[in-house]
Amino acid sequence: TKYIGILTSGGDSPGLNAAIRGVGKAALNHYGMQIIGFRDGFRGLMENRVMRLDGGELSDILTRGGTILGTSRDKPHRMPVGGKLLDMTDVIVGNYQDNHLDALVCLGGGGTMKNALRLKEKGINVITLPKTIDNDVALTDITFGFDTALGIATDAIDRLHSTAHSHHRIIVVEIMGHRAGWLALGAGIAGGADVILIPEIPYDVASVAEAIRERSRRGKPFSIVAVAEGAISKQEHSDMLAAQKKKASSKQKAAKKAEAEDIPETQYAEKTVRLAKQLELLTGLESRITILGHLQRGGTPSAADRLLATRLGTACADLIHQGHYGVMVAAKGDGAKAVKLEEVAGKVKTVPPDHPWVLSARHVGTNMGD
Ligand code: F6P
Repeated sequence: TKYIGILTSGGDSPGLNAAIRGVGKAALNHYGMQIIGFRDGFRGLMENRVMRLDGGELSDILTRGGTILGTSRDKPHRMPVGGKLLDMTDVIVGNYQDNHLDALVCLGGGGTMKNALRLKEKGINVITLPKTIDNDVALTDITFGFDTALGIATDAIDRLHSTAHSHHRIIVVEIMGHRAGWLALGAGIAGGADVILIPEIPYDVASVAEAIRERSRRGKPFSIVAVAEGAISKQEHSDMLAAQKKKASSKQKAAKKAEAEDIPETQYAEKTVRLAKQLELLTGLESRITILGHLQRGGTPSAADRLLATRLGTACADLIHQGHYGVMVAAKGDGAKAVKLEEVAGKVKTVPPDHPWVLSARHVGTNMGD
């Protein structure tokens, strides 16, 4: 009998419970393995806070949002302990061994892939599943959580349209995605946003304002601007490049460190407020902002995410059965593919500026800010 541990790490996303259920039911029922969960990500593994998953715990969770295991952004090698950040990797390896585990399944995004690789290097048979609403994990067609968030953001844009129309306003809607524009781009296209701003295409506020004024001239004095939280202006982009050339100041060092450690930034909303104000000044139309925030991560997963999470979860159990470890279970077409953690860790999948979705948006007349 094989013994498996499972944990969820990083920001939660719809479909985590479906994935836990997929791994767990396939492992228990199909392969006769034993499975335990660790609470709150790597922290729970370090503290050996275990949750049994061999009873009814895997039932009735398919449709539930969040994660029954709880999650945290804590990392094995930088664990907050007693007010300090300590390397607790050896404690984690010890708990893995004390629980007589044959494999550890980590459900997470880009940060989790890096942490999982570190544990692999310490001898743990680790295997990961790609979850995030940002869809920014490399070497997988898609991540679970994305489709649900896409639906929520699209629905929000639909609703904002009618009120923007009635009041002749610009509504700037901020959409999550960290440093990637997948969610804003996808929802912007599906919701018919007039302007879509993503981090991968730095924007010129004058070009955006002109597109909005042009709509007004055509008798449509209202606009929806879908802005990815990580979007930056051309000015900010060139300032960033210039700053990178100069010797890194301590603030930049901190920003680099945050990037390296995958800590989300918090000043996104301020930039969105500034953008809305600028557009109001440049167009003469009143503006409002809507920050969708964590609404995009909450609630029941879409059918597509349940299906994806289930099939990746069962594929994960298949790989454990085969003794195939040190990999991420990537979505590939209708199936799954094992990708070495070395190949995926530290990589971010951003939107190529010539991606078919971008071209499509441009062809229906969406202003992309450039
Ligand atoms: O990675 C998922 C995500 O929701 C990002 O889109 C966002 O920038 C970040 O997490 C927010 O993190 P937190 O839940 O820590 O506020």
